[in-house]
Amino acid sequence: MVNLASTEKFCELADVHRTIEGFESGLDNNDARISPAMKFLYVACKLGMSHCNFTPSRSMVPALLQLAEQCGVPIAGEDGKTGQTLLKTVLAPAFAIRELKVEGWFSTNILGNNDGLVLNDPASNKTKVLSKQSVLDDILGYEVEDHQVHIHYYRPRGDAKEAWDNIDLIGFLGERMQLKLDFLCKDSILAAPLVLDLVRLLDLAHRRGDRGIQKQLSLFFKSPYHVASERPVHDLFKQHQLLQSWAAGAAAR
Ligand SMILES: NC(=O)c1ccc[n+]([C@@H]2O[C@H](COP(=O)([O-])OP(=O)(O)OC[C@H]3O[C@@H](n4cnc5c(N)ncnc54)[C@H](O)[C@@H]3O)[C@@H](O)[C@H]2O)c1
Repeated sequence: MVNLASTEKFCELADVHRTIEGFESGLDNNDARISPAMKFLYVACKLGMSHCNFTPSRSMVPALLQLAEQCGVPIAGEDGKTGQTLLKTVLAPAFAIRELKVEGWFSTNILGNNDGLVLNDPASNKTKVLSKQSVLDDILGYEVEDHQVHIHYYRPRGDAKEAWDNIDLIGFLGERMQLKLDFLCKDSILAAPLVLDLVRLLDLAHRRGDRGIQKQLSLFFKSPYHVASERPVHDLFKQHQLLQSWAAGAAAR
């Protein structure tokens, strides 16, 4: 099962999300803190179907991670890493290796499809922006205070999104430099092959008997699922290694 529904409003983690019993009593009481994205994941677990959340909507809460493990269901998410964030997780490791200090990273997007229209709503916009902002500090190992992400609905572009980045860097002897990136991309053309691969890889994981979070699928997501005691892996090269080792293990069986 793949969640490809519109981005939901931002949702804080609450007590109702912590245990399976609490979550199910929340369902019985129509608790508004249980979102449609969480209900999709709950149903997938109960049906014994692997589940992927391609959206930034919060779905993998502790109760549902326990349920996925209990039901033997592999899960992966969240928020497909297709354009701007893909490039961010390629460039940031290079800056870290060369010790070019990222002083600021200003990212903006214009898009005119229905997703862009939904993201014009401040509550949904917050969910997406937080997801897009989460990648940088973990890769660089320090906080980029001036990391800004903006998304604007601009109808004439339709699905042809423009993702524009300005990066301010500090190099040797404190010299300042800038890098400008302009990705004129097609949202759906970038997303569709990822969804097809995710379905096939989750099916393989399910047949292998893997359950719970599928860390090896981190490279598909902006905010990869992770357990509370670990940091997510954002660096695209490390993510690729995770997938390759997992695939080698699967082929050897
Ligand atoms: N490059 C990409 O396209 C990309 C990348 C990352 C994440 N995403 C995410 O994938 C999702 C889908 O993107 P899209 O461009 O196809 O959006 P879209 O607006 O074209 O399609 C979303 C569909 O979900 C339906 N929907 C809304 N609420 C629903 C619900 N509760 N249950 C079932 N359906 C519901 C809407 O009616 C609409 O048909 C969005 O959340 C988007 O942020 C897309």
